[in-house]
Amino acid sequence: MEKLVADGRARAIGVSNFCMSEIETLLRESFTVPAVHQMEVHPYLQQKDFNKWLKAKGIQVVQFSPLGNMNDFYRKTGWSKEISHMTRVIDQPLFLDLSKKYGKSPVQIVLAWGINNGRSVIPKSVVDWQVAENMAADFELDVEDTEKIATMDAQARFNDPSLDYEWRLYSDLEGSDQAVRGKTH
Ligand SMILES: NC(=O)c1ccc[n+]([C@@H]2O[C@H](COP(=O)([O-])OP(=O)(O)OC[C@H]3O[C@@H](n4cnc5c(N)ncnc54)[C@H](OP(=O)(O)O)[C@@H]3O)[C@@H](O)[C@H]2O)c1
Repeated sequence: MEKLVADGRARAIGVSNFCMSEIETLLRESFTVPAVHQMEVHPYLQQKDFNKWLKAKGIQVVQFSPLGNMNDFYRKTGWSKEISHMTRVIDQPLFLDLSKKYGKSPVQIVLAWGINNGRSVIPKSVVDWQVAENMAADFELDVEDTEKIATMDAQARFNDPSLDYEWRLYSDLEGSDQAVRGKTH
């Protein structure tokens, strides 16, 4: 990948789904600090320490699945069977309250929380008006509200294909399957 940048065929290098020790290895064994790290972040999986650590290294965080357990796939089948009982993030009363306060949808509040924390968010939608709604989610939240959202962390990771990949992903990060068992959100 570094050769592609040197040749002018890529402008930057980003990585995804690394754990802390894997990023440390990368920093030690390459000449490039990745421009971004794309990883699962949403109010139920905040990874505050890891986010702080990445920021200190100059690595921009891109949140995938920024809305949490929206995909049916995350809620009913597969990896997340054990946490399928969790209320969708956007149905939490806090987001319904904040939605009224700001005149924005709960989805927009969740995305604004990520952006207010200095991260990039990449929600996915196949519905035009939802895409437009998501694009209009860059607005300021009051500090007191970001503090309330900070209390919603449940260390609930919905995307963990470790078994399928036969590689233990996220080994030193919050939100292993074990960590979410018994959570009652
Ligand atoms: N690097 C990785 O390992 C990795 C893993 C997972 C995802 N990703 C990437 O992350 C991006 C998003 O991830 P994701 O799809 O898992 O999570 P997401 O964007 O948090 O959730 C997508 C779900 O939210 C719905 N949605 C989106 N905007 C909405 C709105 N304004 N109102 C109501 N519902 C809305 C979508 O509905 P509709 O589909 O009906 O529009 C879809 O069901 C994708 O680009 C994906 O490729 C990367």
